[in-house]
Amino acid sequence: MTETILVQDLSEDQARAELARLAQILLRANDQYHAKDAPEISDAEYDRLKRRNAEIELRFPDLKRQDSPSEMVGARPADGFTKVTHAVAMMSLGNAFDAADVADFDRSVRKYLGLGADASLSYTAEPKIDGLSLSLRYERGALVQAATRGDGQVGENVTENALNIQGIPHHIENAPAILEVRGEVYMSHRDFDALNARQAETGGKSFANPRNAAAGSLRQLDARITRSRPLGFFAYAWGELSEPLSDTQMGAIRRLGDFGFDTNALTQVCDTTDQLLAHYRLIEEQRATLGYDIDGVVYKVDDLALQSRLGFRSTTPRWAIAHKFPAELAWTRLEGIDIQVGRTGALSPVARLHPVTVGGVVVSNATLHNEDYIAGRNAKGGEIRDGKDIRIGDWVQVYRAGDVIPKVADVDLSKRPDNAVAYDFPTRCPECGSDAIREEGDAVRRCTGGLICPAQAVEKLKHFVSRKAFDIDGLGARQVEAFYVDPDLPVKTPADIFTLQKRDAANLNKLANRKGWGVQSAANLWAAIEEKRAIPLGRLLFALGIRHLGEAASNLIATHYGSWEAFERAITAAADRTGPEWEELLGIDGVGEVMAQTLVASFAQQAERQSIDALVAQLDVQDATKPKTEGSPVAGLTVVFTGTLEKMTRAEAKARAEALGAKVSGSVSKKTDILIAGPGAGSKAKKAAELGVRTLDEDGWLQLITPA
Ligand code: IVH
Repeated sequence: MTETILVQDLSEDQARAELARLAQILLRANDQYHAKDAPEISDAEYDRLKRRNAEIELRFPDLKRQDSPSEMVGARPADGFTKVTHAVAMMSLGNAFDAADVADFDRSVRKYLGLGADASLSYTAEPKIDGLSLSLRYERGALVQAATRGDGQVGENVTENALNIQGIPHHIENAPAILEVRGEVYMSHRDFDALNARQAETGGKSFANPRNAAAGSLRQLDARITRSRPLGFFAYAWGELSEPLSDTQMGAIRRLGDFGFDTNALTQVCDTTDQLLAHYRLIEEQRATLGYDIDGVVYKVDDLALQSRLGFRSTTPRWAIAHKFPAELAWTRLEGIDIQVGRTGALSPVARLHPVTVGGVVVSNATLHNEDYIAGRNAKGGEIRDGKDIRIGDWVQVYRAGDVIPKVADVDLSKRPDNAVAYDFPTRCPECGSDAIREEGDAVRRCTGGLICPAQAVEKLKHFVSRKAFDIDGLGARQVEAFYVDPDLPVKTPADIFTLQKRDAANLNKLANRKGWGVQSAANLWAAIEEKRAIPLGRLLFALGIRHLGEAASNLIATHYGSWEAFERAITAAADRTGPEWEELLGIDGVGEVMAQTLVASFAQQAERQSIDALVAQLDVQDATKPKTEGSPVAGLTVVFTGTLEKMTRAEAKARAEALGAKVSGSVSKKTDILIAGPGAGSKAKKAAELGVRTLDEDGWLQLITPA
């Protein structure tokens, strides 16, 4: 029976037999589908078999049949892309906006590595392509999978579409057995203009910019559409490799070029930050004539051994940074100011603008940040924009950079109308009427209504279902807004989402009979909700929408505590902000005092805690996976560093220990397993000796953690 064998394990004979079997089933299913007969297999099964067929054809291109199902015209569209877990996470980049940020980056790299200001250190500099990133997996030289970035951990399988992109080789000669090539898919200006012209002729939708067009084209369920839209691909990085490509970034890029990928000709090695900045200016000068969009220049440490020592923060490498081009600007009139109330109660002023084009996009709303920003003065009396306030009717300067929300940057007082009056920032929430107050040191005025404020509750729910949180198919911002006010099927808190189906079953006015819904879409929604009952701890924490608790910190906290039970116990015990649980929370790299305070306060607040408990009762919270520490001699141990380290900096030592599954603590206690004491160690070494804690010097520690 070939049908149960994994594609990667099929022999050639088995593959031939399996392709024949799949062709028979799929061709028949296709006929049935088009004849509108009762289909014998479900859509999901059909898609699964079709993917299996495509994967086998990829592995054994010579066995592809004349009547291959992958060539079937008018085949059923897939109902979505399958998910792919990246073997190595796809990271994003930190940003630099000026020469000072670049100097800071260089300093931090040197500091981490313990290199002096004069030690030689080379970087590569290359354009930052404004497209979407793609990871291509080759096994024994054959392209077996193409995946989008997704959330960095899990992307979408777009293999069939990637096969239609020129510049993505289907086969590579002399490649490592496993090779994941990463780079950017983009659309050239010429192809973008032609596509939009074609779309206009055929009444199709036009795209706002080449990046959206590239994303829309790559993420087509019908791979033939991808084929009809020319896309390019620049290779600039890699994921899993069975052997290194080179010793240097530049060398690795050359190898990728030798394999047949386009690599960017403006990639260059620079030996000083001055050279980096000079190359940045050169690329900036050429920007308008490149023929494709770029939004900055990426700098990477050239030496790959140093890259690997530097490693990653939670979502960005320490060894690379994106130096962004300055934002685009325009002047227009401020027609009004609206106040939006966010999920944490923040009253955010939004400028309503006379529509104006900024960098190719029409802008009619922009953020005004907060009340001080409008007043031109911060709480301490310091000036913002030289103290100029902003009034309705003023001429204001708007800027946008990349994908971020446009901002109001400046005001032209010479054009101020005579009747313009200073803006009175509301002190009551415009949504629920509760007092809106400013806490000391907070630039933001916040509604005190908590969950009784409908705006806060709805925004919390929207955040809860958003892509990086629960990401429930068919339950987006629009549906959440509708359910919130639904008299028969209300969703007021996240827990209500998970009782929807049960409550609907008990109602007369069934969701399936309502406008905009049907039996199928309601069933799909119940299935999508069920699917998310099992949720990884990090996602759950992020989904709670607690102030300051972003995606990265949520994941750090999740990996630290491992399980919901351990986390909940610790957070509850930390409520009084003293004691070992509080110290432990503060000790997590990436968790600061402010974040820790808001976190424990949220869990200590009765209404909020009730809402969280009710939610968790509905879920199956999955433990966070700790970094792979199999065979690590220090996994699970608590270690403390003290004194001077000579072989590496403290930050690097800490990061390495954590990567090996050790917990790094700042103080010696009974719980300490190992103290690593360098020269100059004082009281900690003494305490360790008293407690009988194992003590090593730096070499002893390195010996312990370096595999023999
Ligand atoms: S390197 C581990 N190089 O920018 C770092 N990224 O803001 C891997 N991008 O997600 C990325 N051009 O999609 C790198 N020359 C370049 C790039 C580039 C564009 C994108 C990439 C990444 C995003 C981060």
